[in-house]
Amino acid sequence: MVALASAEGKLGLLFPGMGSVATTTIAGILLARRGQAAPVGSLTQMGRLSLGEDATKGSLPVREVVPLASLDQLNFGGWDIFEDDAYESALGAGVIEHVQLERVRDELRAVKPMKAVFYPGYVRRLHGTHVKRGSSKVEMVEKLRADIRSFKADHGCDRLVAVWCGSTEVYLRPSATHASIHSFARGLAEGSDDISNAQIYAWACLQERVPFANGSPNLCVDFPAALELARELAVPVAGKDFKTGQTMLKTALAPAFKARLLGLRGWYSTNILGNRDGAVLDDPESFRAKEATKLGVLEQILEPELHPRLYGDLVHKVRIDYHPPRGDAKEAWDSIDFFGWLGYPMQVKIDFQGRDSILAAPLVLDLALLLDLAARAGLSGPQDWLSFFFKSPMVAGGGCADNDLFVQKRMLEDALRRMARLGAGTKKDAHAAG
Ligand SMILES: NC(=O)c1ccc[n+]([C@@H]2O[C@H](COP(=O)([O-])OP(=O)(O)OC[C@H]3O[C@@H](n4cnc5c(N)ncnc54)[C@H](O)[C@@H]3O)[C@@H](O)[C@H]2O)c1
Repeated sequence: MVALASAEGKLGLLFPGMGSVATTTIAGILLARRGQAAPVGSLTQMGRLSLGEDATKGSLPVREVVPLASLDQLNFGGWDIFEDDAYESALGAGVIEHVQLERVRDELRAVKPMKAVFYPGYVRRLHGTHVKRGSSKVEMVEKLRADIRSFKADHGCDRLVAVWCGSTEVYLRPSATHASIHSFARGLAEGSDDISNAQIYAWACLQERVPFANGSPNLCVDFPAALELARELAVPVAGKDFKTGQTMLKTALAPAFKARLLGLRGWYSTNILGNRDGAVLDDPESFRAKEATKLGVLEQILEPELHPRLYGDLVHKVRIDYHPPRGDAKEAWDSIDFFGWLGYPMQVKIDFQGRDSILAAPLVLDLALLLDLAARAGLSGPQDWLSFFFKSPMVAGGGCADNDLFVQKRMLEDALRRMARLGAGTKKDAHAAG
């Protein structure tokens, strides 16, 4: 019989990549724990959960149902290719207003990035200088592992979690190098080009048994060798690409069309954004990684093979344009051509005026707290129940993920209920929670 391990003690939250999303998350948590702002959008902070399958039996705040670390227990650290501390980086990102940042200035100033692992070929639009020197990729893994251990000791942390908030890297497919722990270790030793910066961070975190989530679309922790290592060392992982705006709406709307058996002929999605992420995505190879995660969602939800007359001819396109004047205030348009009774055509137009990092920050916080919970529940490998947060969810066994937002929410709630019962449960139940 195992109980959920206690949530007490300090939890270190590590960010490979301390740009707009990471610093908006940190500043928001600091403001929220002083009671100076509300953690809107966070399931762990504002969500409720019914205790049984039957919602009429009442609900409780999520954090009263399962033991989660509180905001006061969090410590922050990370790496970046630029030297700016979290305050300077947040100022540069221009997401949170100056007057609000000033209130937590000293705490933000104290979060200084460690030197990054940066082979520039994977993010071609950035030219960072705050980078580690080393003769091999193996050495880079070891340097990151040393950083992780020092951070944990220096901050007196009991546990750590990491959320990749670094730039989107160029599109890479898993190769023979990624096939097993053995082949990946050989690839690191030989300095294989198949191994990107993000993968080096993921590998170091796994080696240190730090639960890891990938917020970007690139190949990072979703390849066989990493999953083998995650299982071998009993580390939970999740990814990939935060589902924050256009895709979040898409995966809520598409199930509605399907539920009503309305047909779809065209779904054209375009975005403008002007932050550093937008500049990176202006490189066609980085955009390719993003395009792959954005495009995949509709087909799985609509099942055109089962409904060829409704969805068999759907044309789905996604575009992102870098437009500097917009900064983080992304605008996304969707033009949806659908049809109904007797095939009569109709249209829906969406103009989504979001703020990229404001939408992503609560997801980062939830992922950190829920991955820590997963580790304390003895779960390891890909956490399907965290699909809710991702455009292209990782699934145990490599199966096809469910992209329907409401199915994903149900999976998450079911897993939380199972974990809530873990006190009286067995290790077997804990694994079933995944
Ligand atoms: N904001 C959203 O809504 C959203 C949604 C989905 C995915 N994402 C993804 O989240 C990630 C972060 O987005 P952002 O808006 O914060 O971008 P950003 O450009 O503001 O921050 C990324 C940071 O990563 C750093 N970086 C790049 N390579 C690095 C390396 N090897 N080591 C350490 N640091 C490195 C950059 O210097 C930069 O500071 C991107 O991959 C983005 O695609 C964001």
